[in-house]
Amino acid sequence: MNSTAPLYEGKAKKVFATENAGEYIVEYKDDATAFNAQKRGEWAGKGATNNAITAHLYPLLEEAGIPTHFIAKLSDTEQRVKAVTIVPVEVIVRNVAAGSFCKRLGLEEGESLGRPVVEYCYKSDALGDPLINSDTAIALGWASEADLTRIRELALKVRDFLTPYFEARGVRLIDFKLEFGKLPSGEIVLADEISPDTCRFWDAETGERLDKDRFRRDLGGEAEAYAEMLKRVTKEV
Ligand SMILES: Nc1ncnc2c1ncn2[C@@H]1O[C@H](COP(=O)(O)OP(=O)(O)OP(=O)(O)O)[C@@H](O)[C@H]1O
Ligand SMILES: [Mg+2]
Repeated sequence: MNSTAPLYEGKAKKVFATENAGEYIVEYKDDATAFNAQKRGEWAGKGATNNAITAHLYPLLEEAGIPTHFIAKLSDTEQRVKAVTIVPVEVIVRNVAAGSFCKRLGLEEGESLGRPVVEYCYKSDALGDPLINSDTAIALGWASEADLTRIRELALKVRDFLTPYFEARGVRLIDFKLEFGKLPSGEIVLADEISPDTCRFWDAETGERLDKDRFRRDLGGEAEAYAEMLKRVTKEV
């Protein structure tokens, strides 16, 4: 456990400085929030599960040609990462209609999309992460056109890797949210986390939700669902 004050404490993680200015330690917490933190909860083991899932996936993404911030898993709840300047644009990739996409467009959850959809939201808790487009991000100086081209390319590469990866483990990857950051060199890398907090995972056989929708929608069994996802993610096939 870290004894110093975090540089930043978010809803799900704390970020700590290290002896090396180019590296941070991220600590995953057991807290859960939904609907822009209007709903709050926590359960034992959530932080460790999300840390383990992210720490398993990021090296695989690196091998697949996607640069990430991940350096090493340090403990159950901590990992060492490269310090980046986070691009304040959340990137959502959708394979199947669900959640806010259905609300906004009047669609039935579970409708397959003809091709993956990449959406952008402005990373602002105060505004509730509003949907934007790439022109908005460029005009307001959140990212350059070249950055966004790269971000979109990497986001689709993540999707192309993860979709069959989960399919092979009996999970439909419905949609997910990514955050990207910039290294001092200007290189864009995948940052933050990939976990049941940030993805929709549906069991391929039963359609059972294995992600944060269990908490959002009061379905119960969130700890079991997250543990099941860690099992599937680390399963050799
Ligand atoms: N490599 C990194 N360098 C710097 N910041 C990072 C890095 N990876 C993730 N972050 C940031 O660390 C924070 C992680 O905390 P957490 O996920 O709890 O935030 P959050 O509550 O989702 O809030 P928000 O993302 O809106 O700040 C996020 O702000 C995320 O953008
Ligand atoms: Mg977060």
